[in-house]
Amino acid sequence: MLENRRILLIVSGGIAAVKVPDLIRRLRERGAHVRCILTKGGAQFVTPLTLGSLSGDKVYQDLFSLTDEAEMGHIRLSREADIILVAPATADIMAKMASGQADDLATTALLATDKPVMIAPSMNVMMWTHPATQANLLTLKNREVKVVGPSAGDLACGEVGNGRMAEVPEIIAALTRFFQKNDGQGPLTGLRALVTSGPTHEPIDPVRYIANRSSGKQGHAVAAALAELGAQVTLVSGPTNEADPDGVKVTHVETAKQMMKACSEALPAEIVVCAAAVADWSVEGAKQKIKKEKGAAAPSLNLSENPDILATLSLPGPTRPMLVVGFAAETQNLIESAQSKRAKKNCDWVVANDVSPGTGTFGGDSNTVHLVTADGVESWPTLRKRAVAERLAERIATYVQRHI
Ligand code: PMT
Repeated sequence: MLENRRILLIVSGGIAAVKVPDLIRRLRERGAHVRCILTKGGAQFVTPLTLGSLSGDKVYQDLFSLTDEAEMGHIRLSREADIILVAPATADIMAKMASGQADDLATTALLATDKPVMIAPSMNVMMWTHPATQANLLTLKNREVKVVGPSAGDLACGEVGNGRMAEVPEIIAALTRFFQKNDGQGPLTGLRALVTSGPTHEPIDPVRYIANRSSGKQGHAVAAALAELGAQVTLVSGPTNEADPDGVKVTHVETAKQMMKACSEALPAEIVVCAAAVADWSVEGAKQKIKKEKGAAAPSLNLSENPDILATLSLPGPTRPMLVVGFAAETQNLIESAQSKRAKKNCDWVVANDVSPGTGTFGGDSNTVHLVTADGVESWPTLRKRAVAERLAERIATYVQRHI
């Protein structure tokens, strides 16, 4: 996907600039042409000689250089690329991009370009979460600037939090997805995927309900990742605060029974991923608000079993999806329980995650999962939910391409 793509790489002044030589190497291994603009700040962390040797091209630094302008004007520089990648993108360059400043070669090229732009932000966590940076980010996103990362972790300043530049493979994956999408294709183009996400709410009466701690972050990320690989995705979501992912058809439901109905209506699909935390039971709900009467016994709830969506979608038959993936949320015997769920519900794969208090799996941004298939168990490192979703989507793409 990156073969012969022309990437104008703007390196601004952050410690993450030390990752740029590896980034250039990996891009060139994939056949991309890389040309660099190095800002004054960037040159504090990486030399033009390093970038020039690895990219095999001249490194541009000076807006007012007579020789540079004669060889390649800054306008041409910004227009000859297929994409401009700013990595690392500091808070300063993001602010300049948002406000349209052009006081050096990098910002001038960014303002003069008619090409897509991607940024890989990198900065201190307080700078990243500062309302000014977040407002700039929103402005850039509204102008269709693509954003990869940042991720959470130890920062060079000694603090911990969000602000680390995305790792090189993540940036390569983002560029690959961009070009695939731009070309109107991906490994899942032409295939339909159904994803469930979030909790279900089971009403007790008109004002109360039974719920669980699912935020929808993991399921929504899976839907977005499948769509980015070209699948036509329907997401059936319980009540969450997550935004509808771009390019995904979303059906909002409340209860497990509504989720079952919406899933049945979304078929046929080649791929199903059930990431929702569906309530196992519904309540025989009262029509009116249950009143607390003085001295009366506490009301008891009459529970009845909900349909098992994953097991229903996995039933054998001519319309069974090619690949059905369930999740297993466990607090003990994680792998054994996931293996037995896979067998009991007749799905193909199970993504097992520990949801014990303290893991942060419910509602958090990261997840530690184990992929349970017929071939065995694969344990993945702790990753951001988005990265778990991307890895899962890649695995799904490899599987369906082999079985199509
Ligand atoms: O939403 P987040 O805050 O990001 O958290 C993510 C998550 C923990 C919710 C997610 O990673 C996850 O584990 N989802 C499955 C939660 C769950 O209900 O697990 P379970 O072990 O109870 O169910 C096993 C499988 O059967 C799941 O695929 C579930 O969607 C499915 N199921 C369960 C009951 C039911 N009635 N219908 C179902 O389809």
